[in-house]
Amino acid sequence: MNVRRAAPAVIAALDVEERGRALALVRELSPAVSWFKIGSRLFTAEGPSIVEGAKGLGASIFLDLKFHDIPQTVAGSVRAASTLGVSMMTVHTSGGVEMMRAAAGAAAEESARRGTARPIIVGVTVLTSLSAGDLERILGVPGAVRDHVLRRAALAREAGIDGVVASVEEAREIKRELGDSFAVVTPGIRPAGAGAGDQKRIATPRAAREAGSDYLVVGRPIIDAPSPVEAARAILRELEEAGAA
Ligand code: C5P
Repeated sequence: MNVRRAAPAVIAALDVEERGRALALVRELSPAVSWFKIGSRLFTAEGPSIVEGAKGLGASIFLDLKFHDIPQTVAGSVRAASTLGVSMMTVHTSGGVEMMRAAAGAAAEESARRGTARPIIVGVTVLTSLSAGDLERILGVPGAVRDHVLRRAALAREAGIDGVVASVEEAREIKRELGDSFAVVTPGIRPAGAGAGDQKRIATPRAAREAGSDYLVVGRPIIDAPSPVEAARAILRELEEAGAA
């Protein structure tokens, strides 16, 4: 029998180029959506003040800068992001166990020092824009994307971070192998009828919920819609219906 789980949270990706548009989206989408992702495009253009601006509107922030460097440098970046008060952030699993362990340690230390909640740290496994063929060209070894994702997810758990970013195609198996409390964040979400864009491993909101995803990252299907808030509400409805089925 299926255990009834709460609907996953929707995280709207603020993949826009400037502050005015980003904050207008936060205003329009709240309170239907409470999580917002700030990635390298917006953060590079606007700097840390965009995090403060969005938080000032009540948003929970997922800072998606995919840290990938030597352990000491990543620890410093995680500390800085924790000080900014983000609720979730990404590191890249290909940085290795020691790097991810340094990230987990830095987040715990910094939040204990400040007396704030520890941000959730998730590891990017394989970008959802990459296919098996793309990955083979990069790594020089053949293999199913699934195997790479599962190996990297196991390393993330060993390192003590909270979960991973992966496609819906791998979510169910990650949960089965690494346990339900290990968070799975899934981008590449496309409601029926939405264009894939540059994403290759895509799935509907319903499929994401059924596979056990905890957080759905949705960018273009929301922010490029004629009415972003209506697009977000339609996704939330689909998730509710998937849970009732
Ligand atoms: O517009 P779309 O819904 O494809 O946006 C997906 C978002 O998720 C983008 O901001 C992208 O950077 C991010 N992402 C991803 N694949 C990953 C990690 C993050 O697409 N593995």
